[in-house]
Amino acid sequence: MATSLKTVMTKRTPRAGAERVDARDKVRGATRYAADDVRAGLLHAALVPSRIARGTVTGIDTAAAQRVRGVRTVFTHENIGSFDTGGFLMGGGFGFQSFYPLRSPQVAYRGQTVAMVVADTPEAAREAAALVAVTYAAIPFVATIDAPDAQPQAQSALLPQPMFADRRAGDAEAALQGAAFTVDAAYELPVQHQNPMEIIATVAEWSADGVLTIHEPTQNAESVRHGLAKQLGIEPAKVRVLSPTVGGGFGQKNSLQSHTALVAIAARTLGRPVKLVLSRSQLFHNASFRPASRHRVRLGADRGGKLVAAIHEIDQQTSRHDLFPSSGTEITSRLYGIGNFLGRERLVRTDVQTPGYMRAPFEHPAAFAFESAVDEMAYALGRDPVAFRLANDAAVDPLSGKPFSSRHLAECLAKGSSAFGWARRTMAPRSMRAPDGSFIGWGVAAGAYKAAIAPAIAKVRLDASGTVRVAVGGHEMGQGIRTAIALTVARVLGAPVAAVEILVGDTTAAPQHLTAGSWGTATALPPVQEAAQRLMDDLRQNAGAQAGANGATAVALLRASGRPFAEAESRMRAPGQPEQVFGRLTGGLPAAAGPVYPDFVAFSFIAHFVEVRIEPTTRRIRVPRVLSVADCGTVASLRTARSQVEGGVVWGIGAALREASEVDARYGGFLNADLAEYVLPVAADIGRIDVDFVGKPDTRLNAMGVKGLGEVAMVGVAPAIVNAVFHATGKRLRRLPLRLEDLLES
Ligand code: MOS
Repeated sequence: MATSLKTVMTKRTPRAGAERVDARDKVRGATRYAADDVRAGLLHAALVPSRIARGTVTGIDTAAAQRVRGVRTVFTHENIGSFDTGGFLMGGGFGFQSFYPLRSPQVAYRGQTVAMVVADTPEAAREAAALVAVTYAAIPFVATIDAPDAQPQAQSALLPQPMFADRRAGDAEAALQGAAFTVDAAYELPVQHQNPMEIIATVAEWSADGVLTIHEPTQNAESVRHGLAKQLGIEPAKVRVLSPTVGGGFGQKNSLQSHTALVAIAARTLGRPVKLVLSRSQLFHNASFRPASRHRVRLGADRGGKLVAAIHEIDQQTSRHDLFPSSGTEITSRLYGIGNFLGRERLVRTDVQTPGYMRAPFEHPAAFAFESAVDEMAYALGRDPVAFRLANDAAVDPLSGKPFSSRHLAECLAKGSSAFGWARRTMAPRSMRAPDGSFIGWGVAAGAYKAAIAPAIAKVRLDASGTVRVAVGGHEMGQGIRTAIALTVARVLGAPVAAVEILVGDTTAAPQHLTAGSWGTATALPPVQEAAQRLMDDLRQNAGAQAGANGATAVALLRASGRPFAEAESRMRAPGQPEQVFGRLTGGLPAAAGPVYPDFVAFSFIAHFVEVRIEPTTRRIRVPRVLSVADCGTVASLRTARSQVEGGVVWGIGAALREASEVDARYGGFLNADLAEYVLPVAADIGRIDVDFVGKPDTRLNAMGVKGLGEVAMVGVAPAIVNAVFHATGKRLRRLPLRLEDLLES
């Protein structure tokens, strides 16, 4: 039975919301990124990558490299001098990994830096880098999570801390045994690399009085500052890090990079500023990435359609030198009200640079597996996938029994299904056909992401010219934090948005905590709003009983007072955090809290509805439309919030249908390390994306009622696509990315 779908397209929601405060500069190319730096006297660095995956450098011949005109120095582990490790972000340190090249002859992964050339021009540096001849002693290595030598180890044993422990509610094994219906399925996800438009670049310059200034795109300027101070043995007060604009972070820029100290040392040695711009290929081998993971999900349901048990087991890749923890079951244990839950995670060491956080690092893979299994269960029970999810909604956190700070997942599902036209869906696989003969599939999936908050200090200063200066911890990586801050301050002070200048990503302006984990808005906005409100209160108080004081703008009150400027400050931390947490903030260490708070747990939620069309002969999969409804608390800036969700949906399409980093087990490293062969969705792959919000403030979490949006946006897109493909074809695919050949096999 085929249904024609010509009439169910929804009307495109109009774009709205104030424009981005930095849009004009960006589109004119006026925004300057670290790689754009062309200061006088600049020298240029190029890296020499290791050609083996594991072992030792036994010799380096730099003679040919040194003969290239313009070459100043070839730095190797033999001549660079000693410097300290910057440590590992998840091990009390500052870097994405604990391994810092050139501290020894050790090779820990293919593509690792084994030498760095500095020359007068980038061309000379690159030419010379290619001429550095390195000999190695290689030893056996483990390339992939599935390698015969790979050994999964229980995370709870490797990292005996509560946050990395198994997650348990009730008795999942027993409940599964007694369940009337069960699903038991395994899912696979590949290595993926984030490819921000801005690749990582570092400019290091020393002043005559020994102050080091670093220009580098980062989500964590304070970790770069404190990590470098440790590595170089200098006072943190002697390091300044400037990262005013970042062309995409996505977790890849969330900490000290392994090469940054090399650039700083070269600049100090040569007495000149030095710039290093990684190549796209070097980004694949020298920065963090999304680790491969394997999932087994077992679900049990009763005859009434109630989920009674779930066991979610995850194997996640890590490096040999670090344990990058997994927390995928943090959200799958909370998506539904399943009283008996067991989440168990294992880590698998491989010889790679340490993998790390890549947008919805655990939540996207975990939701792909879990929400696919939930769809399988809905079909096993013969229940509509939306109705099945609504019937299993959670009233309280199944793990802790605490209430949710707010939870509007049911509203996301209801609003989304109505706008999508879900009621016109026919349940049976292969039951909907387009006029051109394509199979149509409609899929749904839910997503969640922790609502975390970090400590922050905000300063707002208004001068008589009307200029407002805001300094706060935060990093603008394209997500729109400047716009959200400007809108908030302008509203409180009655000032034009254009009058607000914002200093973020600048360690000289305010302490710069890591901006990640979708906590940027909930971290920066409440103290900014409070500081602006204090400034306003102060001005009103000074104006006393003067007529009109209540309706006047901040600048009118300031001018009337005759003062040259007024300023105010606010410090905030997450509910339950002690005052000492500000010491971690000023020390460059991560200090975010959540999702578990003293009195509640806090998550953002989303529901995605996807239509796929599958060409019957080639099985080509297209995604003509996606409709997403998010519960992120207050929407602080509508335009940038929509853009976040659109970006998350696009990435979800890429994650489901395109992206995989290919590993050749014979050599290690990543083979398709460029944008020609690492396949990303292009404009022609993206159809219509409709975005809506529940928009209910979560004032239990913070005064502005904001939760978080950047990552939840992507969580659940991949399973919604896979569930739609099942609906279109009757084939249940459990490995990402989906390949045409998976659909061609009979
Ligand atoms: Mo994000 S992956 O926490 O920068």
